[in-house]
Amino acid sequence: VKARIRRADPKDHTSLFELESHFPSDRMSRRTTRRMLGIATARVWVAEIDVDGLPRVVAALILLLRSRTQVARIYSVVVADEARGQGLAQRLVARAEKEARSLAKKAITLEVREDNVAARGLYAKLGYSEANRLPKYYDDGADGLRLRKDFRRASP
Ligand SMILES: CC(C)(COP(=O)(O)OP(=O)(O)OC[C@H]1O[C@@H](n2cnc3c(N)ncnc32)[C@H](O)[C@@H]1OP(=O)(O)O)[C@@H](O)C(=O)NCCC(=O)NCCS
Repeated sequence: VKARIRRADPKDHTSLFELESHFPSDRMSRRTTRRMLGIATARVWVAEIDVDGLPRVVAALILLLRSRTQVARIYSVVVADEARGQGLAQRLVARAEKEARSLAKKAITLEVREDNVAARGLYAKLGYSEANRLPKYYDDGADGLRLRKDFRRASP
């Protein structure tokens, strides 16, 4: 089944909150998920598939775009277990990069757990590299890494 990617709307807050259960630590609260759908500096996309004729959200990405910085930040990417390994995270990140570039951002950063093999594989494949180590960054004491991708200027 081909998943569709679209901008999230306020009604997606429950789906977004449920997807958070896939994180081992530092999950967003219901309040934060709802707020992310309303703030001007956040862009949220979801991937949706049809299950028995009804759309179901199976993945989401939150991108933060603060106007005072030229660096965008991927705040969260998550794909439901049953939808992994089909390139959805890759498509969502590509969508976020396109948006960041179109807003003249010069780079994207994000944080990952050092032990997150899947996410590190994802970002390595997409050209992100390690910018900083973040000792005990997560609320369960796990170390993190800050990754970064600088955009090349389009050739004239
Ligand atoms: C990380 C995550 C978002 C990947 O989602 P996904 O849709 O399965 O990833 P994709 O299918 O787009 O994979 C793209 C690439 O990522 C890498 N990758 C994905 N899963 C991987 C795994 N389990 N192990 C190693 N590399 C992996 C691969 O390089 C893959 O490319 P390939 O299929 O050509 O080998 C998903 O595993 C997830 O939701 N994890 C829990 C939440 C989380 O950790 N989010 C990221 C931290 S913010």
